[in-house]
Amino acid sequence: MRQTMISGVGYHVPKRVVTNRELEQLMDTSDEWIVTRSGIRERHWVEEGEGTSDLGVAAAQKAMTMAGVKPEAIDLVVFATLTSDYFFPGSSAQVQEKLGLRNVGAFDIKAACSAFIYGLSIGDQFIKTGQAETVLVIGAEVQSTALNVSTSGRDMAVLFGDGAGAVILRPGDGRSAILSTHLHADGKHLKDLWCEVPASRFNPRVSHEMLNEGRQYPLMNGREVFRNAIVRFPEVINEALTTNGLTLDDIALIIPHQANLRISQAVAKRLGVGMDRVFSNIHKYGNTTAASIPIALSEAWEEGRFSRGDHIILAAFGAGFTWASAAIRW
Ligand code: ACO
Repeated sequence: MRQTMISGVGYHVPKRVVTNRELEQLMDTSDEWIVTRSGIRERHWVEEGEGTSDLGVAAAQKAMTMAGVKPEAIDLVVFATLTSDYFFPGSSAQVQEKLGLRNVGAFDIKAACSAFIYGLSIGDQFIKTGQAETVLVIGAEVQSTALNVSTSGRDMAVLFGDGAGAVILRPGDGRSAILSTHLHADGKHLKDLWCEVPASRFNPRVSHEMLNEGRQYPLMNGREVFRNAIVRFPEVINEALTTNGLTLDDIALIIPHQANLRISQAVAKRLGVGMDRVFSNIHKYGNTTAASIPIALSEAWEEGRFSRGDHIILAAFGAGFTWASAAIRW
């Protein structure tokens, strides 16, 4: 069976930078609390009217330029996001229209922080089976408009940012390849990280009463997320290594979902690797959910952190709970 390679990567974040100091004006928090607990110093938030599909399109254009791919070449769009522009449809069809693509298949997937790797895995299967020649996979997120930006929402509000990253997948060239992807979920943790409303379980899906109770805001059991993340990240990274007969010594860089610097540090410690081989840019962007891995991949590539032919590992953990990894020979 043929293999898939990543032939282009790009990212885009909104212009507006929101520093920890700015958040201090909006809620009872401090730069010191945020930096110590999460490693985040600033994040980018959209301005009024800027949507998830707009960020995704800008990132896709950069990935297409790097890959030398024109809009008419794209056979499929996979859009990883928790925060589509509207409740329905997903943002993928808006991307199809805005990029001037043919009437190709386009769909959203909602697997939270793991969604980009889930999307990468889907695109990989389409290329491997010959169903597609060129697949656009986007991870994009506008989290800022969902946050309770006051003291009662401070535990979540300080962590999240907006942004997008994208890759172009093409048949492998005999050297570069996605070697394997590994996807997992455990739904018993639903309420440890979730946003309840609007919900099709309720009729109406959202009411004044629900809004007054604040049920439209995301909620997190931070300690439970931390406890599970530091187990699942090493587990799924080791799964990617074992599947391919690789060891950590073979890996130029691990690119984890940027959830929290402390999570990445704990994962590095458990794996026994230095932070110099675990990419981190959370200080600049916060947690951008489905966008964090393609943004990080893009920046790490620009910074020369790995070269063509090097092995890298992508790994994610997030709401659901879901977790995933990908082993890549770049
Ligand atoms: N600023 C100041 N104080 C705050 C803030 C804030 N932004 N948020 C919470 N606090 C307060 C709490 O109210 C609490 O006060 P209290 O002791 O008077 O009740 C105090 O800080 C300590 O709160 P804890 O929840 O015990 O803080 P903890 O040390 O556990 O850190 C954190 C919280 C950072 C969320 C931690 O649990 C963690 O790192 N969890 C991992 C979750 C995570 O990073 N998720 C990212 C998104 S999920 C994902 O992408 C996988």
